[in-house]
Amino acid sequence: MGRSTYVGIAVAVAFAGFFFRFFLLRPLLQQQPPSRLFTSQELALYNGTDEQLPIFLGILGSVYDVTKGKSHYGVGGAYNHFAGRDASRAFVSGNFTGIGLTDTLHGLSSSEVKSVAEWRDFFSRTYTYVGKLVGRYYDYRGKPTKYLKSAEAKAARGAQLMEKQKKEEEKIPNCNSKWSEHEGGEVWCEEGYPRLMQRPLEIALTGKMSKRCVCMKEEDLEQEGLEIYQGCDYHSQACKV
Ligand code: HEM
Repeated sequence: MGRSTYVGIAVAVAFAGFFFRFFLLRPLLQQQPPSRLFTSQELALYNGTDEQLPIFLGILGSVYDVTKGKSHYGVGGAYNHFAGRDASRAFVSGNFTGIGLTDTLHGLSSSEVKSVAEWRDFFSRTYTYVGKLVGRYYDYRGKPTKYLKSAEAKAARGAQLMEKQKKEEEKIPNCNSKWSEHEGGEVWCEEGYPRLMQRPLEIALTGKMSKRCVCMKEEDLEQEGLEIYQGCDYHSQACKV
């Protein structure tokens, strides 16, 4: 074999090694970040009381190392209740005591479930992921449970509905509004007339009724579902509220 053949083989081997490491091994490793499984009792050890241990927080069954946020999550911090447990629900309820500190999302609306999922995004952006909590959201093998999948689906539905609502609302402009202690509240329109309009998707999104003030054009004033502000004339462009 000539010298050029040896060089050829060496280059081929080097290339194969590079290919293996960068295109096969690396994606495989990236797909499986180091992940530890926790029981709720184990997770509770990392609640900030032991100075020697890091502080861990669970949300939707994902566990993050929040030690660098010690001022929030350490003992005496405003958000210490989130440490050493999964209190997913409290991220939207704001109830940081007793039964409020639960991981169940039962009865929450799709926009609320979306908001919990957004908190999880915040933790994955801001802190280091360390593993999964075995229980409601992950099974003992670390596989997502039905409960997690349905929460993800509900959050996605919430996001879709909010997007749709936003697009619908952009079609009809909001009223201007101001409020002062002295004069109270006022809504007004530069063009069109202030009317109260029910948000069509709000019940599906939040489970509650909600209205907004819209500026309606003259030709649309007879449209169904519009309310005139009490004490305001049909053709008044400003109303006290
Ligand atoms: C549902 C209610 C609430 C939840 C779930 C919540 C949750 C949190 C969490 C988890 C953090 C820490 C973020 C991090 O790791 O950097 C935080 C920070 C903070 N929260 Fe809240 N919060 C709530 C309500 C409030 C309210 C009502 C106020 C104000 C009156 C407030 C003021 C703050 C401030 C100022 C910080 C930042 C502190 C800093 O960066 O030094 N939060 N919140």
